[in-house]
Amino acid sequence: MTEVHGGVDGDSAGPDGFAWPESVDPRAAAYIEGALGDASARNFAAWREHLIVPRVLRDVTQVSTEWHHDGRTSSAPIAIAPWASQTFVHPDGERATSRGAWAAGVPIVLSSNSATRVADLPGVDEGGAPFWSQLYVSPDRGDIVPYLEASKAAGALGFVVTVDAPTVPTDFPFRAPIRDIAPPSVNFAGGVMPAIAADLSLDDFRRIRETTGLPVLAKGVLSPADAAMLVDAGVDGVIVSNHGGRQLGGVVSTGAALPGVARAVAGRVPVWVDGGIRSGEDVFRAIALGADAVLVGRPAARALVDGAAGVEALVRRLRDELVTVMTMAGCTTLAEIDRSLLA
Ligand code: FNR
Repeated sequence: MTEVHGGVDGDSAGPDGFAWPESVDPRAAAYIEGALGDASARNFAAWREHLIVPRVLRDVTQVSTEWHHDGRTSSAPIAIAPWASQTFVHPDGERATSRGAWAAGVPIVLSSNSATRVADLPGVDEGGAPFWSQLYVSPDRGDIVPYLEASKAAGALGFVVTVDAPTVPTDFPFRAPIRDIAPPSVNFAGGVMPAIAADLSLDDFRRIRETTGLPVLAKGVLSPADAAMLVDAGVDGVIVSNHGGRQLGGVVSTGAALPGVARAVAGRVPVWVDGGIRSGEDVFRAIALGADAVLVGRPAARALVDGAAGVEALVRRLRDELVTVMTMAGCTTLAEIDRSLLA
């Protein structure tokens, strides 16, 4: 096998021994599973530290996991995280992710570094999922304008600006081999994603909002002070994320960061969270700690091995598990899930 390191075991297996099939290039599998230090492992662990304290003698004959957002209803408070170059895993890439997510009734976030042009995502009338477009802002702000325009034309619900990548970590061991196999970055001229601005500011948020008229969310917020600053400046949502532990090895886990950010936001805008969410119990814990919804990254990548059906099955499993834990804990709606249900 090619000499690259992924997961935590030094090969392309996931940290839990998930085996990627031969159809996926081992360099791509290592890139997907990769993280720095223990950062991704700490994300899993942080959720599991919180033990659930069920309430009993509540009428749980009807339990709804419906998530109301953007004037619409999704079947569960779950969306597929933006992850790059999905044709690494399945020839239909982002198109299969979109169809699979919506077959289970949840939206997606498209990576700007996708292998599918935003204009080529299946529309809602073709079974495609409602979507937000994620983007990295480039040093030359003009570079992102065509992507903003194409996203709006394709019906994006809004934009997710990733704020936790002012640089590419030099010690990320999976980037170099990936350059050899990555599909072109189809959303940008010349097939190359522009560099990422190290001087991203609130002005960028204002400009994107003004030029597109669409909501703009910030992805990669871990500090309550930053969350407060962003909300005060008019951002439409805050996503607690450490990029799946791919930017900084010693970073705080998202489960530990979430309560402080949620307190700072104080219900003014939605708070989403990602990193290590692997089960319905994890979704429940995230909501109890103040999230409105969660994103899943690597589980969706693994599921995409089986195309749209795989992604659909993943979301259905998470939703079914969430129904079970809500029922056990005495909650009939997401609004009833709160901190008092965790030890
Ligand atoms: C990512 N992530 C990511 N984030 C982003 O804003 N833009 C991107 O293009 C990518 N690309 C990407 C590729 C791959 C292979 C992975 C695994 C992740 C981060 C992603 O959106 C999300 O924050 C994490 O994946 C969440 O953690 P889990 O669910 O993977 O543990």
